[in-house]
Amino acid sequence: MAVVDLRSDTVTKPTRAMRQAMADAEVGDDVYGEDPTVRALEERVADLIGTEAALFVPSGTMANQLALKAHTRPGDEVIVSKDAHCWRHESGALAALAGAQTQVMADHRFTAAEVKAAFKSPDDPYMAPTRVVAVENTHNMGGGIVWERAQLAEVTHAAHALGMITHLDGARLWNAAVASGATEKQLAEGFDTVSVCLSKGLGAPAGSLVCGTRELVRRCHRLRKMHGGGMRQAGILAAGGLYAVEHHRARLAEDHANARALAEALSGAANLAVDVSRVHTNIVMIDVLHGSAEAVIGVAREDGVLLGSASSHRIRAVMHLDVDRAGVMRAARVIAEIAATLAQAAH
Ligand SMILES: Cc1ncc(COP(=O)(O)O)c(C=O)c1O
Repeated sequence: MAVVDLRSDTVTKPTRAMRQAMADAEVGDDVYGEDPTVRALEERVADLIGTEAALFVPSGTMANQLALKAHTRPGDEVIVSKDAHCWRHESGALAALAGAQTQVMADHRFTAAEVKAAFKSPDDPYMAPTRVVAVENTHNMGGGIVWERAQLAEVTHAAHALGMITHLDGARLWNAAVASGATEKQLAEGFDTVSVCLSKGLGAPAGSLVCGTRELVRRCHRLRKMHGGGMRQAGILAAGGLYAVEHHRARLAEDHANARALAEALSGAANLAVDVSRVHTNIVMIDVLHGSAEAVIGVAREDGVLLGSASSHRIRAVMHLDVDRAGVMRAARVIAEIAATLAQAAH
């Protein structure tokens, strides 16, 4: 029986058509600025996000960290959401590379009032000046939740009014756009920089972009070189990304429907708790009431269902283009059975 891999939407393999586009890509030395496919991808993504320019980089981590480093000086502070990827899952890069400290907000989404309350003025010599507000949309550890546009506008206005810079970690902005019906450009309004990933739900093998003004992208270009992210005939990868941007955005709706189906199938299951109302996109968080997440994950693996953990009692399941509805429903049956057995063992 085929393995159903729900650990992440990063596990997708390039489709045959994507591989063909990659094989046919015109390439050049991108460190010399001579790769036409990289340039085409950067122009296309800048246009979709509504920024002057964009820079192709190897990973989402690099896209976030180049932007945050470009915006700060050592000793500055960055406001991030609860469990923000750029803080929790980027190997301490904000501290190590930018030398910035973080103010972590109480929740995955936050308000303008909370931004104002968290702000520390550069005039106060005791405080780390708060330079940047970083938003994550969709929010990964928040279970793929989408921000309301009105709340984004309030937060970015408040940040700018206080002289701060705004950064959007839009690794899954494509999912947010499909789920909310707004365009990526509309969701990126009010942000000075935006990072987007090609290698998550869009299914490209690698690559992300950092988007912003020409001047900001020029600075990130230098930082990319400094951090060893200059790639030569990167058009091979950019072609996969371009293919993904043109052909795989609309189909994210299928992943969202599969996530909802999984959540609904598990919402009444014994020993599990799933908040269906928080399943906005392609991620489902499943709480194990008796027993650990790892206990369920370990047995499910033997049954050919691969899952991730978000905490000791929370399983994370992520839908993507390499799993279909039948696979998702098989995963639901396997998870429900294991959870029920664990509950019986606990009594
Ligand atoms: C919200 C978010 N931002 C950034 C990243 C980093 O992407 P990468 O794994 O390409 O470095 C991820 C990866 O999962 C993510 O979920």
